[in-house]
Amino acid sequence: MTALLALRDYQLEFDTFDGAYQVLDGISLELAEGETLGLVGETGCGKSVLAKSVIGLLPRPPARTRGGRIEFEGRDLLACSEADWRGIRGHRISMIFQDPMTFLNPVLSIGQQIGDVIRVQRAGGNRAAVQARAVELLELVRLPDAAGLLGRYPHQLSGGMRQRVLIAMALAGSPRLLIADEPTTALDVTIQAQVLALLRDLVARLNLAVIMISHDLGAVAAVCSRIAVMYAGTIVEDAPTAQLLNAPRHPYTRGLLAALPDIAGGNGTLQGIPGSIPNLLQPPAGCRFHPRCALADERCRREKPLLRDGGPAHRLACHHA
Ligand SMILES: Nc1ncnc2c1ncn2[C@@H]1O[C@H](COP(=O)(O)OP(=O)(O)OP(=O)(O)O)[C@@H](O)[C@H]1O
Ligand SMILES: [Mg+2]
Repeated sequence: MTALLALRDYQLEFDTFDGAYQVLDGISLELAEGETLGLVGETGCGKSVLAKSVIGLLPRPPARTRGGRIEFEGRDLLACSEADWRGIRGHRISMIFQDPMTFLNPVLSIGQQIGDVIRVQRAGGNRAAVQARAVELLELVRLPDAAGLLGRYPHQLSGGMRQRVLIAMALAGSPRLLIADEPTTALDVTIQAQVLALLRDLVARLNLAVIMISHDLGAVAAVCSRIAVMYAGTIVEDAPTAQLLNAPRHPYTRGLLAALPDIAGGNGTLQGIPGSIPNLLQPPAGCRFHPRCALADERCRREKPLLRDGGPAHRLACHHA
């Protein structure tokens, strides 16, 4: 089976005034058709940069690939031109973000905005056909009174409804992969649960692959069958959701879970992980986590641990775990 998406030892840096900021360091990851992967890790660890790499939204420069490959449906994404991307973005890969209001135009009706997306995807189309498709998409994301919604404006919708409209737009071109970057972070808890249920439902109905990024492990666990944990631009552990939550093996994953009272019964502090995230202008040699790790020894300071098999479907990058 060939993967839908495959990153192979992908390395990315940003050119800054102070030097090369080594943001992603050897990311290897595969995603199958219809698979759901959660991406978690502390702020600044590179989740959004990874997502934007996959959908070609990083400004290059300052971003620069240092090595590795990203393949989607067998195609080398790093070699794509902006014209190639226009055929991929929205059609094969779509993305939704945290704050729907940033992406909706306040002075245009929902019908106009979703219609614009449909016309771009189809390179035209008559008014009735575009309207019918708009209603179909709004119904797909389970918005009530889809036809009535077309004449309304973003400010007349709740946050949850706006996020659904954004999801409908993202699905207009029937993509195979949806990337959701903190899709529920800006929403109330009850609305969050509804949007998570919708994502689950879309995955099942459309056989959609999803990469979902969130600070909220519970939210990721509600949608994704697999979770990858990132630390300072590396993937430290990648395992089926239940396994990762119940039997985490990497010291960083363990610390992260211990910090989450609702999931692991911890007390809400990053206990077991003293120190702070490293400066990526001069990342630590060897394992990037070693300065904060209780298990670190000479080998960890010297030799970068590769992501290796640690049981069925379980990968981890640690010399000791
Ligand atoms: N355009 C840019 N130029 C320079 N550095 C950047 C740029 N974009 C991101 N970075 C840096 O890359 C690192 C990773 O950023 P990223 O936004 O991927 O983090 P994140 O894991 O998504 O964090 P958060 O959870 O806060 O969203 C950060 O240190 C950030 O400062
Ligand atoms: Mg982010």
